[in-house]
Amino acid sequence: MPKMTFINTDGTRLEVDAPIGLSVLEIAHRNNIDLEGACEGSLACSTCHVIIDPEWYEALAEATEDEEDMLDLAFGLTQTSRLGCQIIMTEELNGLTVALPAGTRNMMAGE
Ligand code: FES
Repeated sequence: MPKMTFINTDGTRLEVDAPIGLSVLEIAHRNNIDLEGACEGSLACSTCHVIIDPEWYEALAEATEDEEDMLDLAFGLTQTSRLGCQIIMTEELNGLTVALPAGTRNMMAGE
């Protein structure tokens, strides 16, 4: 089974099982990761905002226009921001690493 890693806001990393076909949001919820996802994947909020590790960003299917529109409202938007509910796990994404938004600074500082 593929794995993915979440980087928490305090900089700690958590590697979890990432079943194919589940969204990053669903995987986060299964593992008690603090990612809200208020609209449960219907592209009506931006609370599932995650920051993709730059090495992985290009590997993802491109964001739809609707996703881009919601992302514009996300707090702490970055160049590699995506909505977690729109990223569906595939075999190719084994090893995907995403950070929760408030953790960006930690990631940059390598802490
Ligand atoms: S959960 Fe609302 S847009 Fe992803």
